[in-house]
Amino acid sequence: MRWFGWFRRKKTGDGSVAMDDATVQVIGGRKRSVGVPYLMPTDLEEMNRLDFQHYMLRYALRGNYAAPIGNPTSILDVGTGTGRWAREMAALFPQANVVGVDVHVPPADTQAQGGKEDALPPNYSFVPGNIFEGLPFADGSFDFVHMRLLIMAIPHEQWPQVIGELVRVTRPGGWVESVETTILQQAGPAMAQIIQWSTTVLGWRGVNLLDGEKVGDLLRAAGLTQTTTIPVMLPCGEYGGRVGKMLAADYISGAKGLGGVVVSRGLATNEEFERVLAAAGTELASPQARCVVPFYVAFGQRRV
Ligand SMILES: C[S@@+](CC[C@H](N)C(=O)[O-])C[C@H]1O[C@@H](n2cnc3c(N)ncnc32)[C@H](O)[C@@H]1O
Repeated sequence: MRWFGWFRRKKTGDGSVAMDDATVQVIGGRKRSVGVPYLMPTDLEEMNRLDFQHYMLRYALRGNYAAPIGNPTSILDVGTGTGRWAREMAALFPQANVVGVDVHVPPADTQAQGGKEDALPPNYSFVPGNIFEGLPFADGSFDFVHMRLLIMAIPHEQWPQVIGELVRVTRPGGWVESVETTILQQAGPAMAQIIQWSTTVLGWRGVNLLDGEKVGDLLRAAGLTQTTTIPVMLPCGEYGGRVGKMLAADYISGAKGLGGVVVSRGLATNEEFERVLAAAGTELASPQARCVVPFYVAFGQRRV
């Protein structure tokens, strides 16, 4: 069952495409959402990165969730990206209504809307929404609410409000789960430079990457019970085998995605950024490198 109908896309005066109040604009040569703090691109290259990252995380974390959710009949994925996680959960729980919400329409939903082959599970639907404007659902609508890798989208001051929204739409007895990351550790000089540029740009939007490790505390502060945080330190680089190689590729692609903003805001020239990005790739490929990326899987249950 689809929960909501499709929403209208409208042309704006400058030729960009508006979806409600979130307009796509080009910064540093790539399309990005406006009206939200999030600065990563929304183009096909980024969608491919998100899918690749999903497969890497599902493999590294040994599944798509950790909370003891039983057999949920309603699942919400906040900031669903390509919708890959939500669609897999819809296949895994065919009796559940699974909803993905995002400011950007996932490519699979766009194709389905365009009349091409509809590969979407019948119990999955996409709903446009901006977490900062409140989730477009009634209190207690979902058995399981999931949010993964919104760390670059949520300013430090707004984390409690966002967690409050996740809890509000979870039914009493239901579960909230977050998967977040924070700053890469044991970086070489080139990767350290990329991190410095990235944290500067994100800081201008009020984002602090260190918030990723504190989501479990916020779930507890929001009144959830049985809160649990599982830290997972993943290797990033050739030394880390399959996961290490995948995470290194993900990191370089993600850094490239933010690179256009770094350059357009004057932190580096394009040549300088490209040179440092190439050097970071060489660092991660070195057998001596020992970069680690922390991930935090945090979950808790809404009191009955
Ligand atoms: C790094 S991606 C993660 C996607 C997905 N959760 C995953 O793990 O594959 C972050 C997603 O958050 C979405 N996003 C950013 N700001 C948002 C907001 N204010 N409300 C809803 N979604 C937002 C972006 O459009 C993007 O799809």
